[in-house]
Amino acid sequence: MNIVITGCSSGIGFETVLELLKNKDNKVLGISRNKEKLSLLEGAVNSAQLQTLSLDITQLDEHQGTLQQMLHKHLQSVDVLINNAGLLVNKYFESFEPMEIDNIIDTNFKAPAAIIKFLLP
Ligand SMILES: NC(=O)c1ccc[n+]([C@@H]2O[C@H](COP(=O)([O-])OP(=O)(O)OC[C@H]3O[C@@H](n4cnc5c(N)ncnc54)[C@H](OP(=O)(O)O)[C@@H]3O)[C@@H](O)[C@H]2O)c1
Repeated sequence: MNIVITGCSSGIGFETVLELLKNKDNKVLGISRNKEKLSLLEGAVNSAQLQTLSLDITQLDEHQGTLQQMLHKHLQSVDVLINNAGLLVNKYFESFEPMEIDNIIDTNFKAPAAIIKFLLP
């Protein structure tokens, strides 16, 4: 299968990529912001099955061309999207700043919705 996964530079996303690539029929495009951590993932996998893209999912509008190119080059079509990237602001709700609430909504709701829309055939 051809799979796009966001938030693969650490945590659950990183481990999910390792699991997905155990199946040699899977190709994965992994998206996160941190280039160094994406390089670590590429190094751990060392396989042409994986391509990574450093991209802030809340800024998809600015990077649609790059994403389109990567999709065309590596996957051609997409079977599965794993909207894993997420933001947890770990403090009491009453102390949230307005900007933090905006960031949560942008990362956890608007960005996944934009990616779904972008990837729909
Ligand atoms: N761990 C848990 O117990 C738990 C429980 C419930 C839900 N979840 C959810 O499961 C998902 C993964 O959790 P986790 O514990 O593995 O979290 P994590 O280690 O903090 O990983 C989050 C990933 O999302 C990426 N990310 C965050 N904002 C991004 C953005 N704007 N653009 C692109 N990538 C972005 C981060 O990479 P960069 O910083 O490189 O961009 C990172 O790879 C999250 O959505 C989390 O909310 C986790």
